[in-house]
Amino acid sequence: MSTLRTWVVQTLLLLLTTESQGSLLDLCGSIEPEAPVVQLGSSFTAVCVLKERCMSNFHVSADDIFWKTNHVTVPHEQYTVLNRTACSVTFANVSSLSTQLTCNIRTFGQIDQNVYGISVLAGLPPEQPSNLSCIVNEGKNMLCQWDPGRETYLDTNFTLKSEWATDKFPDCKTKRATPTSCTVDYPPVYFVNIEIWVEAENALGKVTSDHINFDPVDTVKPLPPSNLSVSNSEELSSILKLTWINSSINKLIRLKYSIQYRAAGASTWSQIPLEDTASTRSSFTVQDLRPFTEYAFRVRCMKEDGKGFWSAWSEEARGSTAEDNIASF
Ligand SMILES: *[C@@H]1O[C@H](CO)[C@@H](O)[C@H](O)[C@H]1NC(C)=O
Ligand SMILES: *[C@@H]1O[C@H](CO)[C@@H](O)[C@H](O)[C@H]1NC(C)=O
Ligand SMILES: *[C@@H]1O[C@H](CO)[C@@H](O)[C@H](O)[C@H]1NC(C)=O
Ligand SMILES: *[C@@H]1O[C@H](CO)[C@@H](O)[C@H](O)[C@H]1NC(C)=O
Ligand SMILES: *[C@@H]1O[C@H](CO)[C@@H](O)[C@H](O)[C@H]1NC(C)=O
Ligand SMILES: *[C@@H]1O[C@H](CO)[C@@H](O)[C@H](O)[C@H]1NC(C)=O
Repeated sequence: MSTLRTWVVQTLLLLLTTESQGSLLDLCGSIEPEAPVVQLGSSFTAVCVLKERCMSNFHVSADDIFWKTNHVTVPHEQYTVLNRTACSVTFANVSSLSTQLTCNIRTFGQIDQNVYGISVLAGLPPEQPSNLSCIVNEGKNMLCQWDPGRETYLDTNFTLKSEWATDKFPDCKTKRATPTSCTVDYPPVYFVNIEIWVEAENALGKVTSDHINFDPVDTVKPLPPSNLSVSNSEELSSILKLTWINSSINKLIRLKYSIQYRAAGASTWSQIPLEDTASTRSSFTVQDLRPFTEYAFRVRCMKEDGKGFWSAWSEEARGSTAEDNIASF
């Protein structure tokens, strides 16, 4: 017996001095499952299995196993000794998002040894993403957004899928910082029915949103009118004529406009009645202005039938009304 004990101590010393901590633990046993992800509120069981060599080296069996979570010993009521080498621990209701769970043994000389450790992650499966909608930014991309549902506390991947009759666009994977939107870069495809949906996936499950179908032309945000310029009339001091270049989507669809103006120095914009600019054009004459006054103008456009989105405002353009000559007649 005394020779055996000497041998154990020698082995221990040998192990401690020649092996790193990691490989020392490897020798003694392991925990199953290795990298668990469990649902919050559910029960969870882990099993620690000792290796025969460890058991004979340290004179221990599964009865000597004790568990710790985040360095605190778990009550023995939660343990089940399965056989000579294995002991399990059960948590009835997992509530902590991240737990360090370790299996330990109390050796012959009352020395506590850590056998193995794992990290238990907890969270929730993803909910079905809802309220999916997309904007086609003319000439750039398509931006789709959705409501991701409840917090999952886990790494959750959202993938936007899109396809139309003859083609499939590459999957759009969200960036970690913006899990509720994805920007699809593709050449504009109009007058087709595209189908779009979102898949949400984490370690606890995978769900798919409802599919939406639309013609990209009906969700377009055009580029703003460009090259806005202002010219005055020598005859009429109350008018200014605006001209601009339509965005190139005007080759495919009809547009309507919103025009605003303000006297130089004024802070609030006045709006030209929308019904006056409700169809495609590339000029407009603003009336009832004050003579000899400088005005600033801006224009934006959208699809004539009101589907889609207003463009950004054009760059502002300035122009001055002529002097009022009527009084000097
Ligand atoms: C688990 O614990 C949470 C909070 O402590 C409690 O709200 C929930 O009802 C418990 N679930 C079960 C199944 O016991
Ligand atoms: C003891 O139980 C564990 C876990 O169920 C199992 O992996 C192992 O093979 C068992 N050992 C023996 C000696 O039955
Ligand atoms: C759906 O999304 C739109 C645009 O992002 C938002 O205005 C609307 O409030 C959302 N609806 C719901 C029910 O979340
Ligand atoms: C999420 O995506 C990354 C990168 O594509 C992948 O490595 C990881 O396994 C995915 N996670 C899940 C839970 O699907
Ligand atoms: C529009 O303006 C840009 C830059 O200001 C200029 O390069 C371009 O020639 C203009 N286009 C027309 C048709 O006037
Ligand atoms: C703008 O669109 C209208 C209607 O399609 C067209 O008559 C006009 O010539 C266009 N103007 C420019 C500068 O492209």
